[in-house]
Amino acid sequence: MFNSQNLSINSKNHLTIGQHDTVELAKKFGTPLYVLDEDLMRASCRAYKNAIDTYYDGHGLVLFASKALCTMYTGRLVAEEGLGADVVSGGELYTLYKAGFPMEKVFFHGNNKTPDEIELALTCGVGHIVVDNKYELELLNRIASEKNVTQRILFRIKPGIDAHTHDFVKTGQIDSKFGVALENGEAYEIHKLALSMSNIQIDGVHCHIGSQIFDVEPFCEAAKVMISFISDLYDKLGIKVKILNLGGGFGIKYTSKDDPLEPSEYIHKVTDVVKALALEKGIELPFLVFEPGRSIVASAGITLYTVGCVKEIENVRTYVSIDGGMCDNPRYILYGSKYTTVLANNASAEPIAPVTIAGKCCESGDLIQEHVMMPKIHVGDTLAVLATGAYNYSMSSNYNRIPRPPIVMVSGDEAKVIVKRETYDDLIKNDVLEEARVLQGTV
Ligand code: LLP
Repeated sequence: MFNSQNLSINSKNHLTIGQHDTVELAKKFGTPLYVLDEDLMRASCRAYKNAIDTYYDGHGLVLFASKALCTMYTGRLVAEEGLGADVVSGGELYTLYKAGFPMEKVFFHGNNKTPDEIELALTCGVGHIVVDNKYELELLNRIASEKNVTQRILFRIKPGIDAHTHDFVKTGQIDSKFGVALENGEAYEIHKLALSMSNIQIDGVHCHIGSQIFDVEPFCEAAKVMISFISDLYDKLGIKVKILNLGGGFGIKYTSKDDPLEPSEYIHKVTDVVKALALEKGIELPFLVFEPGRSIVASAGITLYTVGCVKEIENVRTYVSIDGGMCDNPRYILYGSKYTTVLANNASAEPIAPVTIAGKCCESGDLIQEHVMMPKIHVGDTLAVLATGAYNYSMSSNYNRIPRPPIVMVSGDEAKVIVKRETYDDLIKNDVLEEARVLQGTV
């Protein structure tokens, strides 16, 4: 009935996640509340790892794209499952470092890494830096030589693939802020330049064509383009590329209309292409890296809200206001993202009318879904939004000075807080007031 196999309905007609009654979770931990199913998240990690073992003889590594959800707990979980991680900022890197993540399994991305972030990466001993552009290459070489280290890198390549997804999350085409292009020779030139640098070791190439992609064809096309480029690099510059990182972007099921492939099917098809073309070109099979984020954690997460005011505007629409909104889930306002919503305390009730689920921010666009068919909803009901494990907490904000919800991790019969609810004091902890003015009471 639901998008994810860990969700069900119990005898009280309440939505359950794993062994847990969501209405009880809402009561115990308060709302809004992010709930994450540890067992499902681990199962997703294993599915990817097994796919690499099965279809590519284990000659690869799956990285969790930590931008989807970056916390110390989930970082450690991913490491325990044998995955690496992709980070895209000093903050993500620091979180994993502090969680004890094996730094040699970290790939550092980003189109504008700052000198401070590069310093931090080298100090932490990050395994690979995915260099985006010439400016960054020169900066990295300079900082690495000051530190007397040689940094292993991959270059981010734009493979010229236009994936069919939302414009904001497409990245493989030439008109993109990420990476260097193939068609104008930029990618070739940057490799040539790197060869002359004393503190840079070229290990591989990377591409990422976009996110929430259902069709496997664009991934296969990207793999073909990249293998051909690897072969060219050897022929023209004598560079032996060891690592091919094909990024993430595999789609997940947000609503019944979505029909994604299993992770193993993506990996199976893409590895077949890599193997066939490597053989044809006579190059060694590269160590293959994938970077799924959404497909590891999205379905493991739900968000629980309490319904406040229900405003029926005759001949217009019904607004159901919840105690969260764009602060904890900005994806509808940003991308018009579709979600499945469930009345958690009356989970099998028949939908009777369309409603718009509105957040509590002072902004008309602060909506979670519009015109979704729902049962009769009352003040105090518990509402669940499904598949919010990815890009919800990680994209949350304190707009209107609303504290971020906690994350509760459920596993078996256990439920524990892995990220605490923010308090009002957390919100003001970095504010600076001049002591004198406070004392004079002039503020
Ligand atoms: N690798 C790179 C270099 C990426 O840029 C991304 C996502 C990933 C891997 C992971 O992609 P995934 O498997 O999660 O699709 N905020 C948007 C998604 C932005 C994705 C950015 N990059 C959303 O909420 O849909």
